[in-house]
Amino acid sequence: MADLLIGQTLSFGGDPFAEGAEAARHSARGGVLVEGGMIRAVGEADDLRRAHPQARVTDYGDALISAGFIDAHVHYPQTAMIASWGKRLIDWLNSYTFPEEMRFADKSYAADIAGRYFDLTLANGTTTVCSYATIHPESVDAFFEAAQLRGLRAYAGKTCMDRNAPDGLCDTPQTAYDDSKRLLQKWHGHDRLSYVITPRFSPTSTPEQLMAMGALWREHPECLMQTHLSEQTDEVEWVKSLFPQSRDYLDTYETQGLLGEGALFGHAIYLTDREIDRIRETGAALVHCPTSNTFIGSGLFPTAAMIARGIRVGLATDTGGGSSFSMLRTMAAAYEIGQLRGSALHPSQLWWLATVGSARSLRADSRIGNLAPGMEADITVIDLASTPAIAQRSARARDIWEAIFPTIMMGDDRATRAVWVGGKQAV
Ligand code: GUN
Ligand code: ZN
Repeated sequence: MADLLIGQTLSFGGDPFAEGAEAARHSARGGVLVEGGMIRAVGEADDLRRAHPQARVTDYGDALISAGFIDAHVHYPQTAMIASWGKRLIDWLNSYTFPEEMRFADKSYAADIAGRYFDLTLANGTTTVCSYATIHPESVDAFFEAAQLRGLRAYAGKTCMDRNAPDGLCDTPQTAYDDSKRLLQKWHGHDRLSYVITPRFSPTSTPEQLMAMGALWREHPECLMQTHLSEQTDEVEWVKSLFPQSRDYLDTYETQGLLGEGALFGHAIYLTDREIDRIRETGAALVHCPTSNTFIGSGLFPTAAMIARGIRVGLATDTGGGSSFSMLRTMAAAYEIGQLRGSALHPSQLWWLATVGSARSLRADSRIGNLAPGMEADITVIDLASTPAIAQRSARARDIWEAIFPTIMMGDDRATRAVWVGGKQAV
């Protein structure tokens, strides 16, 4: 049976960074027709009701019906250690992250956290994530099993490391290749799941391991490849000393075959002109992780400038370096970082980054991230008056953007009115 969701609807017919807010399509009384897991029609509520009288109607009133949020860079194993105090990146990894990731050798612990993670992200209106697992194959299985159970489109890979990490968290070039390949064959393309080749970052992989990951990617160009790039200044200096022959940080990946259209580079704050040019030429994507960049003290990613230079940019929480599971909180942090860089991102741009922009970074924008016929029915319904503080501000709104912006800046999981995953109500 078809479902007709009615409320305010927000979708995108273009890119608001290129075309301004007119790229967005808003209807004050719109509808989304869902059937067989897909969106069949988007339009005016009255028209859709007349055309589909047999559809089951769910009326969300003034709430905003949007594509589900897409979180393009997360570490689900860091769920239980989010908000750990007082360190910068390398100390933070050694003090908090690596000890927690060690626990994922235990499959039942990994399964507990994976379930907890998806419950939290769905409660926040996020319908797709792209995650790092840990070095343990069990942690990849736990992630995909939990995603499969919930019917989610989800991305992840085994995090590969063979140096500068505790013994229990190190593999080798060969075992990283073998485990990744086996997991890729087991999960990639099954249901809505995608395997992502995942060397953690150059400081924790030898050139030999990066080369093995490059070889695997050449065999499986249908997969994405994710890693970290130029997140903190001391990390960039460390990479220089670990790879004295490399032209720059990006070169440590490029020379091993880890640069291309399906590459996702998290953070990428301190890029040289050569790196920016190569990222644009090769069509790789960058992922902005604003709450992480403020929380760990990394720096200010230049979102508008990177997009203006023709680079695809996605948006992400970077849980648990990031301080929230909420893409609303993440949009707010992106706005604040934009302000500190002298460019105020418009609400249409922030919402686009959390939906279409992230989908584009995952090369999945023909399937998810927007409301349009033929897209998968992953839908989030947002209450634009979810707290007294937000309600009193949005009551004064003169247009849809003034109505949405208080929720972007002050909203959290209380704003999630409903979530639909693959055409079924999940929250
Ligand atoms: N760089 C390498 N590993 C990580 C990680 O787990 N989190 C963040 N924020 N940066 C990293
Ligand atoms: Zn990360």
